[in-house]
Amino acid sequence: MNVAIMGFGVVGSGVAEVLKNNAAVIEKKCGVSLRLSHILDIRTFPGSPFAPYMTRDVNDILNDADTDIVVETMGGTEPAFTFVSACLNAGKHVVTSNKELVAKKGYQLLELAKKNGVNFFFEAAVGGGIPIIRPLSRCLAGNNITRVAGILNGTTNFILTKMIVEQMDFAAALRLAQQNGYAEKDPTADVEGIDACRKICILASLAFGSHVYPDGIFTEGISALTLDDVAAAEALGCVIKLIAQTRRLENGKISVLVSPALIKKTHLLSGISDVFNACLITGDAVGDVIMVGRGAGKEATASAVVGDIIDCVDHSSARKTFGWGDAVPGLVEDIDAVPAAFLVRAETSGKDSDTAALAAALPGCTMLDSDGSTLLFVTPSLPQGKIKAALNAASLRVRSMLRFFEES
Ligand code: HSE
Repeated sequence: MNVAIMGFGVVGSGVAEVLKNNAAVIEKKCGVSLRLSHILDIRTFPGSPFAPYMTRDVNDILNDADTDIVVETMGGTEPAFTFVSACLNAGKHVVTSNKELVAKKGYQLLELAKKNGVNFFFEAAVGGGIPIIRPLSRCLAGNNITRVAGILNGTTNFILTKMIVEQMDFAAALRLAQQNGYAEKDPTADVEGIDACRKICILASLAFGSHVYPDGIFTEGISALTLDDVAAAEALGCVIKLIAQTRRLENGKISVLVSPALIKKTHLLSGISDVFNACLITGDAVGDVIMVGRGAGKEATASAVVGDIIDCVDHSSARKTFGWGDAVPGLVEDIDAVPAAFLVRAETSGKDSDTAALAAALPGCTMLDSDGSTLLFVTPSLPQGKIKAALNAASLRVRSMLRFFEES
């Protein structure tokens, strides 16, 4: 079967290399040989062994009846959405690594794939090389999924690891992440949690069956974290990780959020370091399952893309039932109604009246430190809106609030 690639960047070139280098093992495993037909990119790559496949015209792919499968590794929403839609309408299976595209347009593209009797797969969009999408949609299909939580961004996990292990401050750790090629020149999408938000929206859509759009999802990044926060976590036997999570709530709605969270050092997620990702899935039959691996990088991501290509081969005559339904208004609970316990650092004038005001407004807090200028305390687990209202009522100047990761 013939495969075209749209976007010859890090991931696209990795896919071309894996298809070439591992051609024999892939043919053995899927029973047909996979041949590269075209590579779409506006750039030129003179001297590349893949130069003969290059085109700047998407119509070369769309009009080639012998190209069965198209890989989209361009990134961004446009022109990726237009090109992927055209490929699906042309009866071609599409595999993408583009989390922004799937998070924003996944339902539309899944419907288009269904209408045209083809597959639209995106294992590489979440967790890079870690198998998450297929296990969640197939191996765990017999479960009611109650929760998905993970470290879904490698760049921020690298930065946090440097802050925790080497006491590097955020700015220095970010610079190192940029020097190592993990963080982009503009690191906003990673450090502000936007990338992790797109990924958890995809997992929430799959776990709960309705498209969850990133707009309006509570998203807090790591750029405001300080070494004081890291030290406070340490004193509690915890580390801070950027956690993307979604959970079925008692009222039938779901919570979806991204935020730094305090995780006990005894929990498996606490030990996931550097650029590694991990995803914890909880099902009512299986219990907790954790997948760990390389969440980014050329070869790791290409591995997931090629797995999807092989799944397209397996389901080329009868498409695989896969995906989710349209968004359900009101399904995602307002963040203020989602319960959590917090570690709070607040300024104090040193007067007893501040602690008395806190005790009156928010009973049940555990005071950890009160050094005259700062109060450090743990709140009970309550809806976040109630905690914020109580802290306002106590007239405390809150400097940081870190939620605790709920282990079960
Ligand atoms: N920027 C992402 C990360 C790449 O750091 O995890 C993979 O999606």
